[in-house]
Amino acid sequence: MKIEDKIGASVIEAIHALYGQEVSPAQVQLQKTKKEFEGHLTLVVFPFLKISRKAPEATAQEIGAYLKEHEPAVAAFNVIKGFLNLTVASACWVELLDSIHADARYGLTDATDRSPLVMIEYSSPNTNKPLHLGHVRNNLLGNALANILAANGNRVVKTNIVNDRGIHICKSMLAWLKYGNGETPESSGKKGDHLVGDYYVAFDKHYKAEVAELMEKGMTKEEAEAASPLMKEAREMLVKWEAGDPEVRALWKRMNSWVYAGFDETYRMMGVGFDKIYYESETYLEGKEKVLEGLEKGLFYRKEDGSVWADLTPEGLDQKLLLRADGTSVYMTQDIGTAKLRFRDYPIDKMIYVVGNEQNYHFQVLSILLDKLGFEWGKGLVHFSYGMVELPEGKMKSREGTVVDADDLMAEMIATARETSTELGKLDGVSREEADDTARIVGLGALKYFILKVDARKNMTFNPKESIDFNGNTGPFIQYTYARIRSILRKAAEAGLTVPARLPENVELSEKEEGLIQLLADFAGVVRQAGTDYNPSIIANYCYDLVKEYNQFYHDFSILREENENLKLFRLALSENVGKIVRLGMGLLGIEVPERM
Ligand code: ARG
Repeated sequence: MKIEDKIGASVIEAIHALYGQEVSPAQVQLQKTKKEFEGHLTLVVFPFLKISRKAPEATAQEIGAYLKEHEPAVAAFNVIKGFLNLTVASACWVELLDSIHADARYGLTDATDRSPLVMIEYSSPNTNKPLHLGHVRNNLLGNALANILAANGNRVVKTNIVNDRGIHICKSMLAWLKYGNGETPESSGKKGDHLVGDYYVAFDKHYKAEVAELMEKGMTKEEAEAASPLMKEAREMLVKWEAGDPEVRALWKRMNSWVYAGFDETYRMMGVGFDKIYYESETYLEGKEKVLEGLEKGLFYRKEDGSVWADLTPEGLDQKLLLRADGTSVYMTQDIGTAKLRFRDYPIDKMIYVVGNEQNYHFQVLSILLDKLGFEWGKGLVHFSYGMVELPEGKMKSREGTVVDADDLMAEMIATARETSTELGKLDGVSREEADDTARIVGLGALKYFILKVDARKNMTFNPKESIDFNGNTGPFIQYTYARIRSILRKAAEAGLTVPARLPENVELSEKEEGLIQLLADFAGVVRQAGTDYNPSIIANYCYDLVKEYNQFYHDFSILREENENLKLFRLALSENVGKIVRLGMGLLGIEVPERM
């Protein structure tokens, strides 16, 4: 039984014995004692004052005395105002550590066949350019959230919608035809997504030049943009694509396949993946159909020019375009089509979209439209909306060619991790292969942790230098502590010491050790809260707190040099389980931990 439940039951008993009244478990509020006070658990006595008809202090005093006498789990108590601080007996902590020790996946709940099915969409790139820093945040959040929801007993389907058609990809295609000289990833040695992205940039450059030239001839900016032959050609290409023109389709397939090979590499390096990928080219027609269905049912209306709209003024929003006058789809239409296919493919109970907060309005509208169209999960869809991420130098904007490329960023982080680790002598005497792996684990760990420790809703600045600091609230700091624990366990094993399945019972623990066990046990609640709040940062910061506490313990107590055998085994077990929880917690965040560092 959980310590809280055990003591909680005794509190009910105490109140019955002292005041002759029944209270329900819900009235018993046991909280973790604040750091500045002595004790582990604090009982709030205010709800019982009506029953005791005594002052808060007196009530707390009476309940405390009763518990100390009758509940073996309570070793001592003190009263501060109306709060009864309870010190839990050492034996309970050993028992608790024992139960954590026995559970290799402590704090994680597996799904069953009947668990809710949560579909989580993340990444969702366009195929005209490589992934950038914004996608990094998106992917890390989506992947962590998927892990966290799975650890809370949900069936999780990770999905992606690739926006593979539209004017953006036509721009890249057109520029490649015009200026590419048949260049391919093979011939250029460039990653396919980078190659295609370069042509997107090339299009923009030539287009801008065209507009400038036309403006010099006296046109306004709008006139020039409308008259640009390049843009006209791109639009014509899109029309041809929609009509299924074999040549355009073939080029489109070819260039997109380059992009996918590139994306796959990026995803693999980042450690993220998907169970099912949807492509806009396969969903947008479904969306069109759904919209026309809605039109027939009178949910939407057609304007004179033939365009189809939804009137959302009753919902306090505006009029929303769903099909253009020429019958072509818009972004929203695609999302409706994608929703239709997803619902057909899976019995979705909850749909989560991980998309930046610049699309808040889009998802507000999508939710209403899906609900109108009869999707059961439409109304309750979750837009997991996250803020912008920048580098210290300033904003990243794709069109101006100052994007922070995801591949470059990861490579840089790994290179920095290697430098820093080498300087600190952490790679001395390590095989080339292991050094590579450690650099990768630490570099990516720094990146991932720095991003995930921040509340997703907030805008943030990713500071590469700070992220890789080995001392501080960073991934490498946590990873280093993990490696330290593994090293202690290796040394113990060399000395013939292994932690037994059941821990020795008669050990006298220090406050620090008890607090550490209590913190370890908190992991289960932390995972739960991260799941209900959709908040990976709770787990990140928990890992940091745990590691900080452990390091203090490590600093103040000896482990392998402890003379009392039982205590030595206990401390080894404590260390091993801190390592385990760090590995599980970081694992939920998608961050690896190294065996040595
Ligand atoms: N590809 C879109 C963009 O880059 C994001 C798609 C988000 N997901 C969605 N279901 N609309 O803006």
